[in-house]
Formats: sequence, structure tokens, C-alpha cells
Amino acid sequence: MALLPPWTCVLVACFSASLAGTSDVPDPYPPLWKMSAGQFSDYRVENGKYIIDPWVYNERMGMYKILVNKTASYFENIVANNDQNILWGLPLQHGWQYRTGRLADPLQRKGCGYESGDPLCISVDSWWADMNYFLSALPFLAAVDSGVMGISSDQVMLLPPPKDQTKFCLNVSSCLSSFPETMSKWNTFYQHLQDPSSSFEDLLKYLWAAHVSSLDYASRIFEDSFILFITTIENYHLVPLTSTPQKFFPLLTFSA
Ligand SMILES: *[C@@H]1O[C@H](CO)[C@@H](O)[C@H](O)[C@H]1NC(C)=O
Ligand SMILES: *[C@@H]1O[C@H](CO)[C@@H](O)[C@H](O)[C@H]1NC(C)=O
Repeated sequence: MALLPPWTCVLVACFSASLAGTSDVPDPYPPLWKMSAGQFSDYRVENGKYIIDPWVYNERMGMYKILVNKTASYFENIVANNDQNILWGLPLQHGWQYRTGRLADPLQRKGCGYESGDPLCISVDSWWADMNYFLSALPFLAAVDSGVMGISSDQVMLLPPPKDQTKFCLNVSSCLSSFPETMSKWNTFYQHLQDPSSSFEDLLKYLWAAHVSSLDYASRIFEDSFILFITTIENYHLVPLTSTPQKFFPLLTFSA
């Protein structure tokens, strides 16, 4: 652990800061963790497929909860317990997005994502929500594809958002064909996860490659909404407007 390259601190700090000091932090889990689906049978089933609506916060969070649960045994082989599961960074980051209102309709039409409307709704107009799709749906479906989740690839289907459906893949086969490179990087990570000879450092390296690939694709797809969002909604000081989005994404998505 001592000689990890600098970028790994981003991933490691994210989960260790939130989970290691459990004595000072009463609830280290993301918001609504307990009410999120924790197993496939918590989702509804249609025609033999689990149907997940990733545009509802606790359903999207449930994908992370299942992912962390199903990968626990692999991390327990490498490190002492599942607090060290490097995938914790993803649900924690998503919880932060929810807590800070970043998943709500950025045009503040008071419906999706607002207490007065539908508080659990994730808005497809939220740039954060769209970016996070590539860090939730893709890692989840790649985990299904690589056999980590214990169900077959055609047993799960995500529901499309109310608009812009073509920007999002909904199941293993459509994600593999729409985003082959990113899915392959996530798959590589899970292959190494299942290989008992992988080191913790190797896993961080493959996870980071997959993470960056997800952000890289997503940032190109949502570049327009990023410009809109940065000029209208967000604090200008967060991001230098002259840089290209890809350069600061890893940093930006982890700033708390
Ligand atoms: C995974 O989920 C199952 C079912 O909810 C639970 O019994 C088990 O303790 C969980 N495992 C871990 C490591 O969290
Ligand atoms: C995957 O989703 C596409 C639409 O996005 C659909 O045409 C296809 O039948 C689905 N495949 C499976 C195996 O569910």
C-alpha cells in the first residue's frame, strides 16, 4: 500500500475516509442505503428479467449495493474485510450527488428530485446523473456479464429515461455493442478480481482504467449538457472553463 501511485489516493481516500473512521461518523453509508435494493429479488421481475429503474435513486443505489455485496468475497481474500472493497467509492460518490441535490432537475421545475415533487427521481437533465450512469449501469452490467453477480446476462434489463433514450444502453448486450471499449475495461477489472493471484494494487489499476474509460465516453456524449450546466447552474470556481471537460473529470467527480 505504501508505494501506490498518486492517482490511487483519489480512490482509496474516498472510501477509507468515509468508512475507516466509523467511530466518529455515525452513519458512513450513502443516503437511503438501507431502503435500497440489496439483492436481485428486491426488484420486480417481468418475463424472467429483473427490471431496474436507474432513474430512481434507491434503484440505482441498489445496483451498487448488490455490486458491493457480490464482490465482497473477492476482497475478503485480498484484504481483511469488505470495508476495503474499492468499489465503495462509487456508491459514496453517488450518495454525495444525491445529498447535494445534483441529481435533481437542474432547471428547477420542482418535480424530479425535489422534496415537493418526486424526491427519489433522478433527472436525465442532470449532467451529474448522466455521467454517473456510466459509472453505475456499465460497471453493474459488466459485473453481470463477467459472472460476478450470479445471474445470466439476459436476466436483467434497465428502464430507459423519459427522454434521450438513445444515449443510454439498457442491458448487457446493448452496452457491449454500444460501448465495447468501456465494457471491456470493466470486464477486465472483474476478471482480475476473480483471479486469486491479483494484488490489491493490480485491482486499483484496472478499476481506474475502467473508471476513466466510463468518464471519457460519457464526457463526450454529455459535452453539450456540461456546457449548459456549467454556465447556468454550478459554481464557476469548481472548474476552469477553459479546460476540456475530460481533463478535470476525475478530479471534479470526487470533489466533495
Ligand atoms: C450480501 O447480501 C446477503 C443478502 O442480503 C446478506 O445475507 C449478506 O450478509 C451480504 N454479504 C455481505 C458481505 O455484505
Ligand atoms: C437489450 O435491449 C435492446 C434495446 O435496448 C433490446 O432490443 C434487446 O432485445 C435487449 N436484449 C436482451 C437480451 O434483453
